[in-house]
Amino acid sequence: MTKISVIGCGYLGAVHAASMAELGHDVVGIDTDANKVELLSQGKAPFYEPAFDALLSRNVDSGRLKFSTNFADAADAAVHFIGVGTPQRADGNGADLKYVDAATDSLLAVLPEQPTTASLIAGKSTVPVGTAARLAEKFAAKGAIVAWNPEFLREGFAVDDTLRPDRIVYGLPADTDGAARAEALLDEVYGQILSGETYNDTDWTETPKVVTDYATAELVKVAANSFLATKISFINAMAEICDATGGNVTTLAEAIGYDDRIGKKFLRAGVGFGGGCLPKDIRAFQARVDELGLPRTLDFLHDVDAVNQRQRSRAVSKLADALGGDVAGKTIAVLGAAFKPDSDDIRDSPAVDIARQLRDAGATVRVTDPKAGPVVARFAADLDFVDTIEAAVADADAVAVLTEWSDYRDLDPSTVAPQVRRRVVVDGRNCLAPQRWRDAGFEYIAMGR
Ligand code: UGA
Repeated sequence: MTKISVIGCGYLGAVHAASMAELGHDVVGIDTDANKVELLSQGKAPFYEPAFDALLSRNVDSGRLKFSTNFADAADAAVHFIGVGTPQRADGNGADLKYVDAATDSLLAVLPEQPTTASLIAGKSTVPVGTAARLAEKFAAKGAIVAWNPEFLREGFAVDDTLRPDRIVYGLPADTDGAARAEALLDEVYGQILSGETYNDTDWTETPKVVTDYATAELVKVAANSFLATKISFINAMAEICDATGGNVTTLAEAIGYDDRIGKKFLRAGVGFGGGCLPKDIRAFQARVDELGLPRTLDFLHDVDAVNQRQRSRAVSKLADALGGDVAGKTIAVLGAAFKPDSDDIRDSPAVDIARQLRDAGATVRVTDPKAGPVVARFAADLDFVDTIEAAVADADAVAVLTEWSDYRDLDPSTVAPQVRRRVVVDGRNCLAPQRWRDAGFEYIAMGR
């Protein structure tokens, strides 16, 4: 059992804190947002994440998991995980490190002056390469060691990805004593995950552990997200070509995906990627390599971003074309607000962006989503949100499916048909069965098929 603090209790930190308690550790989660801390302390999740509620309440009830706004409550932990956000800067493409700096300064202030053993600061936030080395200098004054331990969890699968990750990466300091101490502490924390004892199932094997330096560990994270973003924009570029030639991008993706070197995953064409990670990470990576004097190296990520943004305007154009060239004065039902299903996160969501573009072009837009309603009310209150599919599609001139929730994938078009004014459906995620919608009298429009 290790005494752990997790600084920052958003999607990453809160799930990490509860997962570490699940492994038997004694955990305190620290966040400056008193409301969030209050909810978490009652075992209530402040966001929608499948499997998180049960994990959270179980571990709060066990007494192993506490939350606090007071950094002093973290002072005696042996390992401090940093899980605060690193959003895009308001004035450019780079990552804004204000939360990392504030969190580490607050932590520094409460660490003991002369500790008997060195504590470990394990960074999980996605940061520009060079950050760990900078923080290590700060923490050296208090005898604390810094390691970088990037997080690869996906929203919607956060609990499983934390307790059964594909790999665990340790970015360790150059000095051998510090590196050995850091590795030993991380091994103690992750022992059950590394050996594969996390869950009582049978098909579970050891988790690969990659031990490296700070720079590589920081780069692994942004390289992984850049590769994933590139895959999505690649298939969306193919979708544009399919639209121009009558090809079918879904079949194309399937056919290229049989090649193991390419693989089938992350080749779903549609309105593109969004969320709090992929878009800002590819921009921050470009900004960082610019600073490193490599201004051309990631030029392709600029195009990856441009292809991605273009899918949003393509969806708007497809709706306009279907409605006689203009969406002004038309009523459009937008099904989905979250950036992907099984999440209530609307950060940089294609669905929200497209809804706003349609509204700005003069359409009456009604947005619905099974889980993101409260988040839309808070962060996208300019949109007209309705609670049900029925309220969204009533007398609509077109229905646009922009997040592939199973509720929408499984929607029966024959029940939608009598409710709408015009039978036009834009399948922004290529997730509907085209023939079923056509059989129900709909003009079916997709992204590249
Ligand atoms: C992403 C990465 O997948 C995680 O490994 C990483 O840890 C995380 O960012 C992070 O940096 O924290 P996430 O943002 O939860 O995870 O979402 P993804 O599942 O990667 O989806 C991103 C976007 O791409 C969504 O908008 C999704 O709809 C879109 N997407 C995904 C596609 O358009 N096509 C696909 O084939 C796959």
